[in-house]
Amino acid sequence: MKKNLFIALTVALTGLQAMAQKTITVKADKPIADMSPIMYGVFFEDINFGADGGIYAELIKNRSFEFFKPLMGWKAEQQPFIEGTFTIENRGVQHTANPRFLRVKTNAQQSLVSLTNEGFRGMGIKQGLRYDCSFLYRGKDKLTYEISLLNAEGKTIGSTTFTPEPSADWKKATASLRSTATEAKGKFKIVIKGAGQVDLDMISLFPEDTWKGRPGGMRADMIQMLADMKPGFIRFPGGCIVEGYDLTNRYQWKRTIGPIEDRQLIMNRWNIEFPNRAAPDYFQTFGLGFFEYFQLSEDVGAEPLPILNCGMACQFNSAELVPMEQIDPYVQDALDLIEFANGPISSTWGAKRAQMGHPTPFNLKFIGVGNENWGPQYLERLAAFQQAIKSTYPNINIVASSGTDPNGERFDYLNAALRKMNIELIDEHYYRKPEWFQENAKRYDNYPRTGSKVFAGEYAAHPDKTTGPNKNNWFGALSEAAFLTGLERNADVVRMASYAPLFAHVDGWQWAPDLIWVDNLSVAGTTDYQIQKLFSLNKGHKVVPALIGTEAIAGQDSLYATAAIDTAKKELIVKIVNTASSAPSIKLQIDGVKTSAVKGTATVMQHQELTAMNSIDAPNKVLPSQHAFDKQSVYTVLPYSVNILRIPLK
Ligand code: AHR
Repeated sequence: MKKNLFIALTVALTGLQAMAQKTITVKADKPIADMSPIMYGVFFEDINFGADGGIYAELIKNRSFEFFKPLMGWKAEQQPFIEGTFTIENRGVQHTANPRFLRVKTNAQQSLVSLTNEGFRGMGIKQGLRYDCSFLYRGKDKLTYEISLLNAEGKTIGSTTFTPEPSADWKKATASLRSTATEAKGKFKIVIKGAGQVDLDMISLFPEDTWKGRPGGMRADMIQMLADMKPGFIRFPGGCIVEGYDLTNRYQWKRTIGPIEDRQLIMNRWNIEFPNRAAPDYFQTFGLGFFEYFQLSEDVGAEPLPILNCGMACQFNSAELVPMEQIDPYVQDALDLIEFANGPISSTWGAKRAQMGHPTPFNLKFIGVGNENWGPQYLERLAAFQQAIKSTYPNINIVASSGTDPNGERFDYLNAALRKMNIELIDEHYYRKPEWFQENAKRYDNYPRTGSKVFAGEYAAHPDKTTGPNKNNWFGALSEAAFLTGLERNADVVRMASYAPLFAHVDGWQWAPDLIWVDNLSVAGTTDYQIQKLFSLNKGHKVVPALIGTEAIAGQDSLYATAAIDTAKKELIVKIVNTASSAPSIKLQIDGVKTSAVKGTATVMQHQELTAMNSIDAPNKVLPSQHAFDKQSVYTVLPYSVNILRIPLK
């Protein structure tokens, strides 16, 4: 009995101690680092239907008939059946980037000749919105086209008819129609009326409400999610997609600029990467290419960070290497890219940028060489890039890979070698359990303070073994928040961070968790998204110590904290993360500055359930909320919460 009482008392006392008030001391006049102005950014890759079927607002799948199966995504119908009505022609050397087109021969006896496109997992159609159709055609016969939007049941929800002038050469036809209904799984149908022959290519359909209203542009709701984060940088175009399954499948930026019909489509390597998530209809049309990614970066005020193939294909796939004696064209691509971004319009590549509508430079400062590449073969190729880039453009910062994992022999080998090479930014990747993120909040406390800096280029807590939509839970996001306090405390070492991957379509994903989930009509920011956005909007400028006693706050009693001064707004920002179910009371001791009498604000993101998630069906389940906060009173840190306190200074 006595023993049980002793145990009960001990447990109660331990509980009380855990609940006892703690003092967080902020030494506001003792800056320890300048926060990187581009600390939080986005990692963009065409994975999970992120570009084609995602931010690229094109609704037609396989518009140029260049998929392996030329009519994939299309349904060609005719009544009565006449052999040879639809044929796929290949013009070969006449147009190597886009050799195929569709020839349609209609016969006066036929009551119906039509083509229906299913879109990327359907088409999101909005009531009242204008849709702009265009296609390239060639043919001397006068034919009439009835174009229609269809709902999931095949009922017409908007149509128009037009008769372009016959043309012996390829010509562009355009027509617009308005939708009478909203539909998540719409289709697009073209009925060809009249007898004759026509060649068709680049059949396209865009909504009018693209980002900034640009014709042929991006899906505005998805881009708005990025803009709302005020990203410091945009890394593009990936990811493993940079490397490709093999070298022919690698991303080649020069093939992604200029007129879209000249941009040569290739298979998206995520098409075949995971047999259990195979996506045979996943290709890269490059309707979005490097020009558009530079433009997007400019639109949202982010530094562009292109990553280039380093002469190595994905080492999990073919692992092909370009021999060192043949590396020059790869290196030249990097030099030409810098000229494309920054060169005067009198330069070869600067002129191409100007032709595309952007005479002023994009002011590129960073370039990535290789994605998740490793081994001496990587270092050898990287050295060739470094030598060429630095001798021509000494101010360009090089981002290099430390492999796939943030520790282990492969990482140690690369990390040491890259530091010897004085690489400006070392790209570290962490796809780990949430517990890892909490345990690693001190990861950078003992990193070298000089030399190469860190780019936390791909981070994501993976809370669940099974992946898929709705696996981004609060436990993962809370753990990432704990980890981010460690990055901020070491802002002199860690200069950039981005969650990965960025987007996923609920009906077309290959990799999960992801930052933002979408369907054809809506978007949902996960709890991870909300966390990165909160950190990005509240990063401040000068990092100052936040201590319990004399120690940095990195897991003691499940608390994590960091502090910074926002010199523009003259505010002290204190971030406190509580990963436990207890609710400690905090007294803030602010040393070295005078605070204003004005109350501060506390932005709090909290949920009792670590399994809570934001999803397309419930996008607002866990959101930050704001309330006034008095720095004099005791602050209660709610269980499982992220708290951002902003305190006005005098
Ligand atoms: O983000 C998904 C993939 O994870 C990226 O393509 C690659 O860099 C990493 O392995």
